[in-house]
Amino acid sequence: MRVGVVGLGTMGAGIAQISLTGGHETIGREVSDELAARGRETIERYLGRNVEKGRMSSAERDAALARLTLATDLSGLAECDLVIEAVLEELELKREVFAELDRICRADAILATNTSALSVTSIAEATAYPERVIGMHFFNPAPVLPLVEIVRTAKSSDVAVDTAYEWAERAGKQPVRCNDTPGFIVNRILIPLLNDCVRALAETGVEPQEMDRAMTNGAGWPMGPCALIDLIGIDIHVHASEALHAKLGEERIAPPKRLLEMQSEGRLGRKTGRGFYEY
Ligand SMILES: NC(=O)c1ccc[n+]([C@@H]2O[C@H](COP(=O)([O-])OP(=O)(O)OC[C@H]3O[C@@H](n4cnc5c(N)ncnc54)[C@H](O)[C@@H]3O)[C@@H](O)[C@H]2O)c1
Repeated sequence: MRVGVVGLGTMGAGIAQISLTGGHETIGREVSDELAARGRETIERYLGRNVEKGRMSSAERDAALARLTLATDLSGLAECDLVIEAVLEELELKREVFAELDRICRADAILATNTSALSVTSIAEATAYPERVIGMHFFNPAPVLPLVEIVRTAKSSDVAVDTAYEWAERAGKQPVRCNDTPGFIVNRILIPLLNDCVRALAETGVEPQEMDRAMTNGAGWPMGPCALIDLIGIDIHVHASEALHAKLGEERIAPPKRLLEMQSEGRLGRKTGRGFYEY
């Protein structure tokens, strides 16, 4: 299959890497040559790490990299069978990208968005052929985390959904099909649950370390909720909570006061060296 990836940022570079190691000719599109080169460097670096750790041979890395081409114009994706979009989380931008892909790509090409919180249906409405539009929601870091939510709108065709599902499965992922609803599966559950955990800190009078010990030892979580929010980033989690709260209106989805305070103090988690924990 020939695969296009629009945007080689955090998620796009990871998705392109999955496609390359899955054996596909992959075209990565960036807005400038400089960003495209940076995207290639990211992929090279991660593949290099896999070689160092003995997960792949250097010949396999070279073969994967040889399947990558770069483009700065969307027209470079005209011959792709599957295009996965991973540009900034802005509805108007994604709609513009999809309207153009719809004009450029063959009628049987599948167009997928990696949006976390936008409506796939609203993105698909920018095209003349919404039946070929689906969501493919990867998790960060995409080459490491197995889940891909394959998101179906009311108009998505079975062929589009099944082809994306099989593509992800062959690339070594664990895809799950779901409807186009706010937060899809994981964020719909995880965001309110993490916010419950933060509110329960004060209610139960426990420190983050104790909360994390409770949830790892009592609920079998692989990582405690406070450590997980630090890893996600307080700002990212607050933003995701606000977006989901705006759509579903349930109070427990709104970001807790404690997280808003941490955000305004610049305690954003691992990336700033301080969150619930010091790093
Ligand atoms: N980071 C995560 O944890 C995560 C997880 C799952 C899904 N997502 C989703 O993936 C998508 C990308 O997120 P990211 O974290 O990779 O962001 P990022 O900031 O790392 O990358 C953004 C990309 O958008 C491109 N871009 C910016 N302005 C553009 C424009 N005007 N036209 C075309 N391209 C433009 C950039 O060049 C870059 O390639 C978003 O929809 C996000 O919600 C992110």
